Amino acid sequence: MMFSIFLQRSVYTKMAQFSLPQNSKIEVGEYFKDKTNSKNLKKVHVYRWDPSTGKNPRVDTFEVDVNNCGPKVLDILFKIKNEIDPSLTFRRSCAHGVCGSCAMNIDGVNTLACIKSHTDINGDLNVYPLPHLKVVKDLIGDLTTLYKQYESIQPWLKVDQTGQEKIELKQSQRDREKLDGYYECILCACCSTSCPSYWWNGDKYLGPAVLLQAYRWINDSRDSDKKERLKKVADELKLYRCHTIMNCTNSCPKGLNPAKAIGSIKKMLATS
Ligand code: SF4
Ligand code: SF4
Ligand code: FES
Repeated sequence: MMFSIFLQRSVYTKMAQFSLPQNSKIEVGEYFKDKTNSKNLKKVHVYRWDPSTGKNPRVDTFEVDVNNCGPKVLDILFKIKNEIDPSLTFRRSCAHGVCGSCAMNIDGVNTLACIKSHTDINGDLNVYPLPHLKVVKDLIGDLTTLYKQYESIQPWLKVDQTGQEKIELKQSQRDREKLDGYYECILCACCSTSCPSYWWNGDKYLGPAVLLQAYRWINDSRDSDKKERLKKVADELKLYRCHTIMNCTNSCPKGLNPAKAIGSIKKMLATS
């Protein structure tokens, strides 16, 4: 008995010695105190990492005067960049929830900084890059793998019109409606980076964003490659790593349902 307790303790001690690689430890960063004497300050904790410095990531804290700031988290990030620390790096383009480039993790939820209102968040604000991606710098995650996976599903209309005069492809109103809920995807990657299966197998599993896009083309009545498209995704790793956990659907800032699209692909395969 004593021996067994000793053994358990020594195993536990060994497990406790487990340590993270050097540059994955997040350190406490700089504190930027307000200089405006504003009575309405928000403390914003932002993940920072610049690989060119060779230093570990850190979390900087900024006191931001929200009286003189737009309502969205992106407004806060711009205020920090323009007035406090110009080295803060993040991606954005449209600022209207259309391009998908400002996706990040805000207060523990993947969403778009340009549509997320900071007034909805009580207390401090925490801003991190999308989880489980390699970080390029600060709030920018590396989407190279996701874009390659997107390319692999050939996201364009394939029409069998070889040798013929090109004709207009008509689509009934009903068939067009079948694309609703899919064509609106802006490829922000909020869903894929909140999917546990994608976290662990992101190099093999296509993930909810790309599978939703695959379904969008499979489901297009004008496309002549439906069978081939289905065959391409019918793979243990590419498709069936989805275990219907639904994190993807819960996180989509456009209110789309990638889990439903994945379920529809599985159903098509089971019945074809
Ligand atoms: S399904 Fe939603 S969360 Fe996923 S990439 Fe498209 S818009 Fe973003
Ligand atoms: S439903 Fe599938 S794709 Fe969505 S989070 Fe769960 S495992 Fe990932
Ligand atoms: S900047 Fe385009 S979606 Fe946010």
